[in-house]
Amino acid sequence: MCDQTEKYHVIKYLFEPRHVAIIGASANKKKIGFKIVENIRLGGFKGKVYPINPKEKELMGFKAYKSIGDITDEKEIDMALICVPEPIVLDAVKTCVSKKVKYILVITSGFSEIGKNKEEKEIVEFAQDHGMRILGPNIFGAFINKSDLNASFASSIIPKGHVALISQSGALGAALIGETGEENIGLSSMIPLGNKADVDESDLLEYLMDDESTKVILIYMEGVKNGERLISVLKKTTQKKPVIVIKSGRSKKGALAAASHTGSLSGSDEVFQAIMNQCNVHRPEDIAMALQWAKYLAESPVPKGENSIIITNGGGVGVMAADACEKYGVQLFDNYQTLYDVFSPFVPEFGSIKNPIDITGQVGIEGYEKCIQASVNHPDIHSIICLGCEHALFNEEALKTTIERIHKKYGKIKPILYVFYGGKAIKNAIKHLKSLGIPIYGDLYQAISCLGELYKDYRHKIMLESTTKELDTENIEINYDGIEKILHEVKEDNRKFLLADEARRMMDYAGIPMPKSIIATNMASAVEFAKEIGWPVAMKIVSKDILHKSDAGGVVLNLENETEIMDAWQAIMLSCRKYDPLAKIKGIEICEMIKIETETIVGGRRDPNFGPTLMFGSGGIYVEILKDVAFRALSFSRHEIMGMLKETRLYPLLLGVRGETKKDINAIVDIIIRVAMILRKFDQVTDIEINPLVAYEEGRGVKAVDARILIK
Ligand code: ACO
Repeated sequence: MCDQTEKYHVIKYLFEPRHVAIIGASANKKKIGFKIVENIRLGGFKGKVYPINPKEKELMGFKAYKSIGDITDEKEIDMALICVPEPIVLDAVKTCVSKKVKYILVITSGFSEIGKNKEEKEIVEFAQDHGMRILGPNIFGAFINKSDLNASFASSIIPKGHVALISQSGALGAALIGETGEENIGLSSMIPLGNKADVDESDLLEYLMDDESTKVILIYMEGVKNGERLISVLKKTTQKKPVIVIKSGRSKKGALAAASHTGSLSGSDEVFQAIMNQCNVHRPEDIAMALQWAKYLAESPVPKGENSIIITNGGGVGVMAADACEKYGVQLFDNYQTLYDVFSPFVPEFGSIKNPIDITGQVGIEGYEKCIQASVNHPDIHSIICLGCEHALFNEEALKTTIERIHKKYGKIKPILYVFYGGKAIKNAIKHLKSLGIPIYGDLYQAISCLGELYKDYRHKIMLESTTKELDTENIEINYDGIEKILHEVKEDNRKFLLADEARRMMDYAGIPMPKSIIATNMASAVEFAKEIGWPVAMKIVSKDILHKSDAGGVVLNLENETEIMDAWQAIMLSCRKYDPLAKIKGIEICEMIKIETETIVGGRRDPNFGPTLMFGSGGIYVEILKDVAFRALSFSRHEIMGMLKETRLYPLLLGVRGETKKDINAIVDIIIRVAMILRKFDQVTDIEINPLVAYEEGRGVKAVDARILIK
């Protein structure tokens, strides 16, 4: 059995195999086994190539073998590709043991994607037991530029560059190779995952994050298997280079069956999107946008500040560009004096030197050059958007040569993008300049979205440098033993939820304040307890058989005196008996009625894909209508949790609006960290929901009015 940690350290051999074998290589030009050997040969792989075929002695100039076991030289075959039919794949995998193959790329289809899960599992288990790993099955092979290896039956001509593509869909992966070619985007590698039976995105990212030949990683994902590991690897990777993720399947189906508000609000894509934000992953809306981002992020210099300039020859497009900047978070430089000093020598009087800089239609293409030069030379200008509309003073040749010259001179110093609108001449010029790798676009929203993503990375880096690395749980104490005891009692009682008094005790042990409350087992003690707590009080039924207390008529609020307590006692008992005559009633809880101020909701939940997740938002009875919630993967960082708070519409209210005081945001963050600590410590807790968590003004803390806890 191979050591599990060792598995991850050999990922290098998938990207840098010393020698490769192809089991199922064929001389028949129509077969996949032929195409793969041909592509390897054409790609110029420097290692040895071993075609395996029962009949052939030689294939495309390579000596062929009947079985991989027949190879007598001592070369390390780190990679074997299997392209024989499904029924003989396992046997083929078994033959790889004798050569200690590290990665087996199973090209063959017909496994879990058509329900043959058992066969797939058997292959993976056999491989792992013998220190080998499986990529696929159901893939078209792999392309790795630095190894000159095109071990695939995709195109033989793959543009080389700095973008690594990882695709769960084989067909889309192959199509993306074509698309990247069209867009002049060079690839450092292209690895499909197919059925993802063993090797997954996280394994590949472990390598790619430190791979110097890769500047941007573009992933197409259908589903997430080991989300917790993915989060940790993504966080590490995005500190080093941009990761763009396209994910299909934005379905909300999974949420319907959920048992809590947190569950029903956490539609799969909401959680996915939130976690990708948390990991600083770029999420384009479509493939076209993904490719543009990948290209721009791979090639553009990093900005040194946030001040962007728009240079345009038309007021209208300038305004549209300003709108796009707002949409994509690009900040326009507005220091009038600097703008005047820099641009007034080049802008006619009837133009504008307010950003957007309108050089007007009178100035030809050479006017752009002067403005760009001045912008590049000024330290307070950090990025440049150059816009143009076709007119008589523009000609195709001048546009091509000027932009090429400008970009050669300045394109590596500061981020510059070009957007031109017009007819055939403009389109031709764009096509030509694109082919030279210049960031020129026919649509300003597309262009400015690229700059927006560049700034997203820029801000993330600044944030990482400025935030402390220490954990924010150090000063937080939780009585884990007490909680453990409650959970044990609930398990003994064969229940999947905590009763109100158990939830209260748990909150108490977790240091989460709740209103005062005592359970009364008869009417007389109810009156006594109410006096002890202080008027007004609320009364709530306590029964393990009644989960939805209000529906059963088990809750009465705002009781002001003894008579009201006695009446409410009778009413609750009567109504609950009617609701469920067999319900075992433990008593009625007498609770302090607290002053409701800002109602929030805090949730913690085990997501089937990402493990423990946190939720925060607008609380109270309308949570599902308001749908004002944000999510994070489990985090103990105040900074990350604050990010979640800031995503909600509630946040400005917490800061205090219209003369209201600021709410106790620190106390809210503290509660969320405590919820995270419980989820981390107790695997059996699946849902914690505090709703409402009432937030008082700064310094006066919070109160959890109700807590619902579910266990496995
Ligand atoms: N060892 C070595 N070679 C063997 C062995 C063996 N034990 N057994 C048979 N072979 C040889 C065969 O003799 C044949 O060579 P030949 O042409 O000289 O006779 C070769 O291996 C291939 O075997 P075939 O039986 O001819 O299989 P074929 O090539 O028709 O199909 C394949 C095999 C391609 C793996 C097929 O089963 C399959 O799965 N196709 C789909 C692949 C796919 O689409 N993958 C997903 C890609 S992602 C996307 O959609 C782009």
